[in-house]
Order: sequence, then C-alpha cells, then structure tokens
Amino acid sequence: MTDRLLSHRFHGRRKGKTLTDYRQGLLEHDFNHYKATIPFETQKNSWLEIGFGNGEFLSHMSQNNPDINFIGCEPFINGVAALLSSIEKPVDNLKIWSDDARLLIDEMPDQSMERVYLLNPDPWPKSRHHKRRFVQEKTLNMLSRILKKGGLFIMSSDHHELVTWMFDHTNAHDNFEWTGLSGDDWLTPPSDWPIDQTRYMKKGLAGKDIYWLIFKRK
Ligand SMILES: C[S@@+](CC[C@H](N)C(=O)[O-])C[C@H]1O[C@@H](n2cnc3c(N)ncnc32)[C@H](O)[C@@H]1O
Repeated sequence: MTDRLLSHRFHGRRKGKTLTDYRQGLLEHDFNHYKATIPFETQKNSWLEIGFGNGEFLSHMSQNNPDINFIGCEPFINGVAALLSSIEKPVDNLKIWSDDARLLIDEMPDQSMERVYLLNPDPWPKSRHHKRRFVQEKTLNMLSRILKKGGLFIMSSDHHELVTWMFDHTNAHDNFEWTGLSGDDWLTPPSDWPIDQTRYMKKGLAGKDIYWLIFKRK
C-alpha cells in the first residue's frame, strides 16, 4: 500500500470546518453501513463517481435507482458527512470510499464498472500543477481497465482549459471513443442527468456554461 500511496499522491483537502455533532455522529455510526472495504467486491450494474464533493448526484441517484450499485469516492470527510446527511432512508446500493479513488480503483476487477463519473474535477490551473489533474494517461489506463466494453466515462467542467485537456487526453487514448457528434454536444448533459446542479456547480459557475464530455469504452 505504501508504494501506491506515494504514486497516488492526493493534493486536495481532507478536512474542512468542524463538523456538527450530528454530522460527526453520522460518520461514527451510519457510515459503517456504507463504507467500501478492501478486498472490494463489485456487484453487477455498478457506477463509480470519483470526487463526489457533497454527494448531491450520488444521493439522488442511489435513492431513486435501487437496481444500480453506486460507489462514491471522496477524501474530503466533510463531503462524506454531507452525503450521509442527505440520505433520508438507508439504502443498500451505495458504497463510500473516503479516500483517493485511485487506491480503490486499483482493487477493482477488470471490466467491473458500467459507468464512471468525474464531475467538475479540480482544475489545477497552474502549468506546474497540471500533473495533479485527475485525467492523465495513467488514470485513463486505470479507468479503461475497470470499465466494461461499451461502458461510459462521463466528465463535466466549467473550466475551458481543463475541458480541452480532458477531451484531448481521453480522445487520444486507444480505448476511449467520444460519443458526441458536434461541438454543440459539449453543452448537453447526459440524457439521464437527474439533478439541476451540484452545490459546486452553482457556487463556482455564476452563469458560466458547463461542458460535458461523454466517452465510450471501446
Ligand atoms: C471541485 S470538487 C467537485 C465536487 C463534485 N464532483 C461536484 O461537482 O460538485 C472536486 C472534488 O474531487 C475530489 N478529489 C480530488 N482528487 C480526488 C481523487 N484522487 N479521488 C477522489 N476524489 C478526489 C476533491 O476532494 C473534491 O471534493
């Protein structure tokens, strides 16, 4: 594990402001029901979200789609608490990994995911930080290994330069194929996108467009 911790170095925040007693209690008790553990057993029809933030998408999806198994990864513990607090009735189709997604992906069997979502990843705008961006040849290799053939890799961002980066890298990868037909498709969310916007989208965007990149695993 130590070698992998070094190779998958996480640069984001793991903790934010002090949690309320209620949210702390959720992490101490309710979280046990959802915790993803290694060895990780995948189930059929599994969708993975990398960096779920406050978990709006996963919360909505897991409560409304009992036949899909969701796995969410988020090292920011306040985000994990926010997701737990938004689940009204306990669900059995959600697993949460409160660490770097790459550590869990390494444990997943080949072709075990139907979909992977990467919504509004950190843009790391400075050139010297570009290597911290989630989309890199190495992570694309990892995702192409766990995605089923025909499975989808869905990304979004409001950050133009990052969108171009994610498009160029994924499009150049042998195992991925863009599903769009024209530039206009960049502004169209997936047909089954369920919620208005995540808190991050609302806060950061202030009227800016969100670009969607939907790739298919060849
Ligand atoms: C800008 S936020 C977007 C949150 C959410 N996807 C949304 O759209 O509201 C990016 C999130 O990705 C998480 N993140 C960054 N690198 C990650 C990694 N290697 N594994 C899992 N999560 C990661 C960060 O902690 C952060 O919460």
